[in-house]
Amino acid sequence: MRKKFIAGNWKMFKGPEGTSEFISRFVDELLISKNVTKAIDEKKLEIAIFPPSISITRAIELKTNAPILIGAQNMYWQENGAFTGEISASMLKEVGCTHIIIGHSERRNIFLETNDIINKKLTAAVNAGLVSVLCVGELLDDRKSANTFSVIKKQLLDALKGINPQIISDKIIIAYEPVWAIGTGITANNIDAQEVCSYIRNLISEAFGEKIANKLIVLYGGSVKPNNTASFLIENDIDGVLVGGASLEIDSFMNIIKAAL
Ligand code: PGA
Repeated sequence: MRKKFIAGNWKMFKGPEGTSEFISRFVDELLISKNVTKAIDEKKLEIAIFPPSISITRAIELKTNAPILIGAQNMYWQENGAFTGEISASMLKEVGCTHIIIGHSERRNIFLETNDIINKKLTAAVNAGLVSVLCVGELLDDRKSANTFSVIKKQLLDALKGINPQIISDKIIIAYEPVWAIGTGITANNIDAQEVCSYIRNLISEAFGEKIANKLIVLYGGSVKPNNTASFLIENDIDGVLVGGASLEIDSFMNIIKAAL
């Protein structure tokens, strides 16, 4: 059975101070939830938080040994050099990050990241040993014009170009995030989300083999809340959720985690 993966993407919220407040209380809440820690110990559940870069070190220092994975929301694909404003995968590793989000729709649409850029970032992240949460998702217009599957296929296969298939299920998690459902309060219903997540798994199976596809962790993201989490997680091909807004409050994020048990 595949483990459940619950991730909080804080986007551009919580500087070091807000991160301290959250992490110290969150660790307490987590450690008293015996069902949650048991599931983590038994490798049935993983919890990851993606703070803004400037807050990553604070999160890692404060969580001490608590079973929370800390990742970054962005990186550049070069190791180092004259790239003002950027940070590299090896720098993230150095401060203790284990995960990275790549290809989030806000990076694609606001910061104009192409599939080619995403492929370069994914390759660099894999080479550095980070686990990547690779986001794919269609715009509302794509869905209306029945292009969801072709958009997902291109995003996925372009991003994975040149990646060693043997590492895909260990080092890459795919998050299906329909752009029209992000931060809008409109969720894809579980049937639509399952349809696309199953399409993603089949695509990976065709391209890289069934064994890799069966091990692959596939998430749904887009207006996930405590009261809709379970409806996604009962679906065969949805192994977890990538949560934006609802991961910023301890109670709602904890309730999402508990809904995954
Ligand atoms: P949301 O964001 O949960 O606030 O819709 C999800 C995401 O962008 O990862």
